[in-house]
Amino acid sequence: MSGHDAPTTPGPRRLRADGVRDLVSETDVRASDLVAPVFVDATTEERQPIPSMPGHERVPVAEAVPRVREILETGVEAVMLFGIPESKDAEGSRADVTDGVVQRAARAITAETDAYVIADCCLCEYTDHGHCGLLEDAAAEDPGLTVRNEATVERYRSIAVSQAAAGADMIAPSGMMDGQVAAIRDALDDAGHGDVPIMAYAAKYESAFYGPFRDAANGAPAFGDRRHYQMDPANAREARREVARDAAEGADVLLVKPALPYLDVVADIRREFDHPVAAYNVSGEYAMLHAAADRGWLDLEAVAHESLLSIKRAGADLVATYFAEDLADRL
Ligand code: PBG
Repeated sequence: MSGHDAPTTPGPRRLRADGVRDLVSETDVRASDLVAPVFVDATTEERQPIPSMPGHERVPVAEAVPRVREILETGVEAVMLFGIPESKDAEGSRADVTDGVVQRAARAITAETDAYVIADCCLCEYTDHGHCGLLEDAAAEDPGLTVRNEATVERYRSIAVSQAAAGADMIAPSGMMDGQVAAIRDALDDAGHGDVPIMAYAAKYESAFYGPFRDAANGAPAFGDRRHYQMDPANAREARREVARDAAEGADVLLVKPALPYLDVVADIRREFDHPVAAYNVSGEYAMLHAAADRGWLDLEAVAHESLLSIKRAGADLVATYFAEDLADRL
């Protein structure tokens, strides 16, 4: 053997050279695939930073349009609205009112910008107990074990219709009640919103990665947990059954949440169904990369991009992520 390398390598490295690597790349992250979550808060007059989600804020209704304009400037075209109401009660009565926080924000955003507005449809931000539905008896010894499915779904119908009436372009039910997609589809159709699609949180796991979000939205359950309605992280096959039901009930987009710890589920749903697949890169996934980057342990831009690429590679068509603006800005 001579003392120098052969001019060409004999294997897969041939296609990794500059000039060709991009030609053969299978996946990319585009601004048009990203959805930016926005927290609108009726209890504040000023933007409030969210400590566990650096760069994100709860914004007052008056700031909803300016906030969305900032997002649009980066090239991201879709936002997902979460609301913190002025008051909470056992029924979440502020969730489906015309002058509710999300309804007001959606009306302003759709009137004044071209953003595509997705409304989170759930009760946990609106109930004083923080559960995603109505409880059998909030005063009971262990009330967290008895979220009432049918009564909750009735509330979701009304929330979805009020959001669509306020201009929301898409409804995203995230409460994991059985039958919620069919009920919401029916309610939207009945109310003349047959053109409004549903992005179903079809496989939503009972995950500890939601921690920072629950701080941001003041939505942590006051007692108990969500394991009797959200999915068990141990289960992947069950996700197919959940997703099949939502698809049969009329879901237009199938969402898996969280994203990174559940890429096997994203990939499986991609293979099994023809629908667009969405993934939610949740607050904890964002917070942990930021925390490590703050310590100088990770390069934030690089790991954020790699994370999003992985979610796309697993088969997601669209991704809700707190990195949306930062990534889009760089693309
Ligand atoms: C509530 C909802 C949650 C998230 C989105 N919608 C939280 C939960 O179930 O506690 C979490 C999002 C995130 O962590 O980024 N229905």
